[in-house]
Amino acid sequence: MKDVLLKRFAEVFGDTEGVKTYFAPGRVNLIGEHTDYNGGHVFPCALTIGTYGAARKRADHKLRFYSMNFEKLGVLESSLEELVPSKEAGWTNYPKGVMWAFGERNMEIPSGMDLMLYGNIPNGSGLSSSASVEVLTGFILRDFFGFEVNNQDLALIGQYAENHFNKVNCGIMDQFAIAMGKKDNAIFLDTADLSFEYAPIVLEGAKIVIASSNKKRGLGDSKYNERRSECETALAELQQVVKIDSLGDLDEETFEKYQSAIQSDVRRKRAKHAVCENQRTIRAVEALKANDVALFGQLMNASHVSLRDDYEVTGVELDTLVEEAWKVEGVIGSRMTGAGFGGCTVSIVKDEAIDCFIDQVGRAYEAKIGYAADFYVVEVGNGPCAM
Ligand code: GLA
Repeated sequence: MKDVLLKRFAEVFGDTEGVKTYFAPGRVNLIGEHTDYNGGHVFPCALTIGTYGAARKRADHKLRFYSMNFEKLGVLESSLEELVPSKEAGWTNYPKGVMWAFGERNMEIPSGMDLMLYGNIPNGSGLSSSASVEVLTGFILRDFFGFEVNNQDLALIGQYAENHFNKVNCGIMDQFAIAMGKKDNAIFLDTADLSFEYAPIVLEGAKIVIASSNKKRGLGDSKYNERRSECETALAELQQVVKIDSLGDLDEETFEKYQSAIQSDVRRKRAKHAVCENQRTIRAVEALKANDVALFGQLMNASHVSLRDDYEVTGVELDTLVEEAWKVEGVIGSRMTGAGFGGCTVSIVKDEAIDCFIDQVGRAYEAKIGYAADFYVVEVGNGPCAM
């Protein structure tokens, strides 16, 4: 990959003098969905697929960007004086947002750069290609200019850029999973205080399979923000009757006791998901530690049902992928992953069942939805690195 990047870099930017190469992973969340902005737990892991970057410092303030995934766009030029979001800037809003966010933390970027990217995360799959670009950019800036930030800071800076520059109100999960990734481990993160532990993913005789629905995202972002505000309102209603800081502070029993304080059925369902999903995530990690992969799988399935019926973020595409997966013998668990409304599902599938899984789910999906899904058997990888 390094050679391919350097070759293209020379073609696009003239030569490879002073160029360094980097990688940041994508991520998949195993369980704990729509809990990260509710003070709950998440359990994501970094993948071995992600974003590759080749970059070099410039003597001036110019920024030159090129993506091998969007070759038609050619070289997009900007400068350190123009760190404002714009529609024309396309994907470069992600690296620019991170440069801007460093400035907001009083770490001014002293000089410009030439940056080339290549991502092998499937397009629009919901495996966090944007967070991957953000963490990669932060990693490069630290390496070039010696800023004193650790990987957790890189995650927070990436999220800040996403929230305030790109105006997507996401939680911390994606950037954290990418910046803190560890080979063969998932990250059990408490988003209330960012305490975390690594949990080995030991799936004897089984693998993680991603199915991408290939559904165009559409209304995703606005629905995401709508869910967030429904949860915020439900929390405010509950706070009238019980002393909590977030929905993540409640267990099922306490929620049951106070839920009537929530004034609408819809908001009650949203809050119920946030509360139960958090408890499920805690239980799922316990199950994994006890080597009970079957229970882990059942909790993944229950997570999907809750996202479908109470949180209502699945849709016919993700439901079809998951419900067809559940029919295949050798599937330990299957659920939608990420924000929902399209994107992909994550399944744990026994080795001997993988071919049958891809064939059976793929056919049923295409017959019902009218276009094909894509399948990827993935591996759990490390966080960002220089190559
Ligand atoms: C998106 C957001 C995350 C998280 C998930 C849902 O991926 O970026 O912060 O909220 O959706 O769990």
